[in-house]
Amino acid sequence: MAVIDRQKWDKVYSHPQREFPTAPAALLAHADCLMPGNLLDVACGEGAVSLYMAARDGYPTTAIDISQTGLDRLSVFARDEQLTISTQCLDLDDWQQLSTLGTYQSITLFRYKPSRELLSALICALLPGGRLLFSSFNMQHHHSSGFSQRFCLQPREFVDLTGSKLIAYISSSSAPFTDTYIFEKPQ
Ligand SMILES: C[S@@+](CC[C@H](N)C(=O)[O-])C[C@H]1O[C@@H](n2cnc3c(N)ncnc32)[C@H](O)[C@@H]1O
Repeated sequence: MAVIDRQKWDKVYSHPQREFPTAPAALLAHADCLMPGNLLDVACGEGAVSLYMAARDGYPTTAIDISQTGLDRLSVFARDEQLTISTQCLDLDDWQQLSTLGTYQSITLFRYKPSRELLSALICALLPGGRLLFSSFNMQHHHSSGFSQRFCLQPREFVDLTGSKLIAYISSSSAPFTDTYIFEKPQ
C-alpha cells in the first residue's frame, strides 16, 4: 500500500505547473489554537500547512510525508520564502518509523484520513498541554463531488478518542466540507 501511495503522490507532485500551495481554510480559522513551539506537520505534501505555520513567529516546523517529491517541492518553496523547514520522508503505516517522531508542542494533520491508531500515536507525540489540529474531508464532500468515501470522515468519527481532551469539533456543511478536530494532551 505504501509503495502505491508513494508512487501516486510522487506523480501528483511531479506535475510541472504546480503553484505555491494555499493554506487550507480550517488552518486559517484555527491556527491560533496551536501552542507555540516545535510543530510537526504530518502528511505535509508540498507544504500548504507547513509553509503557513513556519512563516508565523514561534513555530519551528518539521514536515513529514511519504512522497520525497512532495518534500522536495516544499523545500524549494521554503527556500524561496526564506523559511527553514526540516523534512523527513516517512511512511505513516510503518510503526517503527512512527516511533522515531520525537515530541512537539503542536501537530497538524490536514486532508488525510488517519486510522484511530495513527491519531493516538500523534497524541502520544505531543508534549503535555500540546495540541493536535486535524482537519479533513467529511461525507458531504463525498456526496457533493463523488470523492471516495473511503477517504472521508464519518460524522463525529473521532470525538471519543482516548488519551486526549477534545477542545473543539467543527463540522462544515459548506464547501470545502471538512471536519476539524482540536485535541489537547492532558498536563
Ligand atoms: C491530500 S494530500 C494532503 C497534503 C497536505 N497535508 C495538504 O493539506 O495540502 C495527502 C498527503 O498524504 C501523504 N501520504 C499518503 N499516504 C501516506 C503514508 N502512508 N505516509 C505518509 N504520508 C502519506 C501523501 O503523500 C500526500 O502528500
